Amino acid sequence: MIDQIKQKIKDVLLQKLGLDDIVVEEPKKGFADLSIPLFAFAKTLKKSPLLIASDFGAIIKKEVPAIIKFEFMNGFLNLFIERKSFSMTVLHEIFEKKGLYGSQTLEKKETVVMDYSSPNIAKSFSVGHLRSTMIGNALKNIYKKCGYNVVAVNHLGDWGTQFGKMIVAYEKWGQKDLVRQNPIAELQKLYLKFHDEEKNDSTLEQQARDVFRALELNDDYYLSLWKWFKEESLREFMDMYDLLNVSFDSYDGESFYNDKMEAVVDELQQKNLLKIDDGATIVDLGDSLPPALIKRTDGATLYITRDLAAILYRYHTYQAHKVLYIVGNEQQLHFKQLKAVTNLMGYDFDIEHINFGLVLIDGKKMSTRSGKFARLEDVINQAIHEAKEAIVEKNPHLKNQDNVAKAVGVGAIIFNDLKNERHLDVDFNLENMLRFEGQTGPYLQYSSVRIESMIKDYDIHINEVDETYFDEDPYFDLVKLVSQFPSIINRAKESNSPNIIARFILSLAQGFNSFYGKQRVIVDDQRHLHTNLLLVSCVQIVINEGLRLLGIESLKEM
Ligand code: ARG
Repeated sequence: MIDQIKQKIKDVLLQKLGLDDIVVEEPKKGFADLSIPLFAFAKTLKKSPLLIASDFGAIIKKEVPAIIKFEFMNGFLNLFIERKSFSMTVLHEIFEKKGLYGSQTLEKKETVVMDYSSPNIAKSFSVGHLRSTMIGNALKNIYKKCGYNVVAVNHLGDWGTQFGKMIVAYEKWGQKDLVRQNPIAELQKLYLKFHDEEKNDSTLEQQARDVFRALELNDDYYLSLWKWFKEESLREFMDMYDLLNVSFDSYDGESFYNDKMEAVVDELQQKNLLKIDDGATIVDLGDSLPPALIKRTDGATLYITRDLAAILYRYHTYQAHKVLYIVGNEQQLHFKQLKAVTNLMGYDFDIEHINFGLVLIDGKKMSTRSGKFARLEDVINQAIHEAKEAIVEKNPHLKNQDNVAKAVGVGAIIFNDLKNERHLDVDFNLENMLRFEGQTGPYLQYSSVRIESMIKDYDIHINEVDETYFDEDPYFDLVKLVSQFPSIINRAKESNSPNIIARFILSLAQGFNSFYGKQRVIVDDQRHLHTNLLLVSCVQIVINEGLRLLGIESLKEM
């Protein structure tokens, strides 16, 4: 709503005055609702800012009914919105649309593929995969909200020379029962043992290559082992996804492209892009990037070969030319190369590498191996356990304690991850993230629950609302905040930054709590009561929808 007003102001000024561009700001401090810096025009219009202000102001007041007052201050034209009708329009819209407030439809539906989580089978789900999963899931929700068609792909790391090593190690030292009992941990141990033994036995590496080559040529026995490793790993990954409440449209990992790689190599060949370098097949990427290695000397394919097959498959199957790869920083070069190769092939894919910082515990990089937890799942379960203790203490009679604890514990981890810019490192401290006050998930859930406890016994009657309350600052400030939600969603989408939504709902919850500090919501006067109820229930709708976009459950009680 505020965006429409801004746009209208821009349009009329540009049209009437023939200017190139004009900036309409929303000042952070509440001295005006909107404001236009005028310095830039003094030269082109050959007038003093004061005179420009009165010209602009007169045009705006005449053409934009939402603006009722203007004033000149320190080189700015300050504008004031007519509060009552603005508020009623905004709150009506939110109250009617509920969770659909801020949802958009695109004229031409565009498909975006999001490639995230993508753990490696027979290895533990790493902290990096956890970040990727949470950021990717939020971006999926945000893009969908903006009207995109999203295909969420879990590009499982289930192919590559490491499986040659794994199979050789299993054949030499593995025990079926142990792997059955504790698949990922056992397989990981075998993999490490392979690397240790390699130092003494120089034939091991060649054995592994031969096995992987045989695997690529569909050797039945090796395939059956590989399948078993994959199933066992997936079982563990799925437990993780259940906890986090995330799902994917496709689990086509690297192995899925095994029979699609020859076609890619052929296409590269036809386009004259392949070179043989020391027996290996490469694409030369000039001086700025190292060459992309497409096939090893023995003919085995590589990570990038599979990513090329994958992006072409996504393009043909989903008609997607935009792909977001939510993957840690260390793969920056890989995605640059991927983009460069597809460009040379003549495709104009919009490839975005969405990277992110590390997770730190006490200032040190967190890894599943270093901590006291063997598995990341245990860390999440610990958060749920601690959430439960806090809840039981606060509200012993609460029903569904386990569900609430799960929503609070998992929500705390997700919010802690998404509240800061994704490039930054995340501090992982369960005690801090589980606090009920401060910048935490539980604080947001609790704010929503507080509103719920106020509104749950009432039917809100819009026709009993007294709009004059919206002339008062505490009321109007909150209305202005909720009115920003649609443009906040867009900004989050434009910069692929869920933290913009996280910060916004935090400030909304803070706004509500400070409103509530000044103003009782449940009052005797009926019109005042319904005004308050409408306002706080709209705040709740926006907080809940913001939480949903981040992948966090909102609650009715906690
Ligand atoms: N499995 C890879 C890893 O864990 C991430 C895969 C990312 N996606 C992709 N299409 N390359 O490092």
